[in-house]
Amino acid sequence: MRRIAPGRARGAPIMGAAARAAAARVVRAVIDRGRSLEAALTPELGAIAAEDAPLCRELSFGTLRFEPRLAWLAERLLRQPLPASARDVHALLLVGLYQLDQLGTPPHVAVSTTVEACRHLRQNWACALVNGTLRNFERYQPSLRAEAEASPVARFAHPPWMIQAARRDYPHEWQALLEANNARAPMTLRVNLRATSRELYLRRLAAAGISAAATVHSRCGVTLAAPLAVSILPGFDDGQVSVQDEAAQLAAPLLAPLPGQRVLDACAAPGGKAAHLLEASPQVGELLAVDADDRRLERLRSTLARLSLNARVQTGSALQPQSWWDGRSFERILLDAPCSATGVIRRHPDIKALRRPSDIQALASMQGRMLGALWPLLARGGKLLYSTCSVFPEENHLTVQEFLAATPDATEAGFTAAWGRASPVGRQILPGEGNMDGFFYALLVKH
Ligand SMILES: C[S@@+](CC[C@H](N)C(=O)[O-])C[C@H]1O[C@@H](n2cnc3c(N)ncnc32)[C@H](O)[C@@H]1O
Repeated sequence: MRRIAPGRARGAPIMGAAARAAAARVVRAVIDRGRSLEAALTPELGAIAAEDAPLCRELSFGTLRFEPRLAWLAERLLRQPLPASARDVHALLLVGLYQLDQLGTPPHVAVSTTVEACRHLRQNWACALVNGTLRNFERYQPSLRAEAEASPVARFAHPPWMIQAARRDYPHEWQALLEANNARAPMTLRVNLRATSRELYLRRLAAAGISAAATVHSRCGVTLAAPLAVSILPGFDDGQVSVQDEAAQLAAPLLAPLPGQRVLDACAAPGGKAAHLLEASPQVGELLAVDADDRRLERLRSTLARLSLNARVQTGSALQPQSWWDGRSFERILLDAPCSATGVIRRHPDIKALRRPSDIQALASMQGRMLGALWPLLARGGKLLYSTCSVFPEENHLTVQEFLAATPDATEAGFTAAWGRASPVGRQILPGEGNMDGFFYALLVKH
């Protein structure tokens, strides 16, 4: 017989069950099929009722953020492991545990709606199992939480290899780094100083009832007290502001192209740094924005159009400039290299599930080859800014050191900064420092 939640008319749908089922499908697509969170979430949001979408998004992001801990809890609570054919149920259990362990959802709501979600997933057989497991979490919560404190995977909610790497690379900061990855990222804006001043824009936000504060290290940044849809932001459609983390806003002032100089942005899409470069240095001779991904370049084009900025846009590989370069050198090159994105886990919690330890060396090798392929395009006396949103030395100072050792006409151009920490080459910002994303910057000059 179908069980009815208290107070619910017989046959009426339980509110929120569809959102929970959709979140379970999203979580499963990421952890089992290696899909990105955004790619998995978009079709699910399109298929459920609009009022369920915010909850589905919250449960998908939150469950993936804490997935290593939730899987650890599920393993302890289940009498025997679930069969391989029950991966939807496994994912739903994680969604249920997230609500109880992290989100503070009232237990009766979390349990009844998550049990009901079994039916949405056509896994009616699992209702009793999900019900019993979630109720057992409630019952044994104090001892489970205490036990979790002693397990690094459960306590820090990261895969073991990431915890080991963080401990090795940041012996003093690794705990703060991992905890910052589990926090929600702020929404930070870049004010277009060609269109308005930061002070005026802050006043405009205040007049609209939106509380915000100026960033410390970027002179055009504004951090909102709470995230909101860009459609609500004053002046967004007219190009007065863009969404960009403060750490990413440090690239343009470091590269600082002079009037008339030719600039190459070799991995440019979706265009945040290219747009900032053009806003900050409107007199550049030309900016060539290259990226290997056509679809991401579409986003760059629409960003440039919204901001009324001009760049030459080219699909191509930074590894093979001979297929798109016209032979005229650039005085400034930005190589914002594809990377593990381990500095932006708080924005993309699926990185925890998607990255493998072997990815890091493969990425480092590609990043080194990109540096080597782009260096001949740089004019003598010109500067190349290398950046990643990774926290791993292999992708950052070690890649740059290896490149410098093999390239006699390349040296590091030192810069002073009040942010991050000095690396043997370049500077590293760890996630959460100054409420910024994790980023690495190294500035090189050609002799
Ligand atoms: C970190 S993102 C760049 C972000 C961009 N600079 C911004 O600020 O918006 C890295 C980019 O490298 C691109 N990419 C990956 N492999 C590439 C290659 N071989 N050549 C050029 N771009 C590549 C990806 O498509 C991605 O857009």
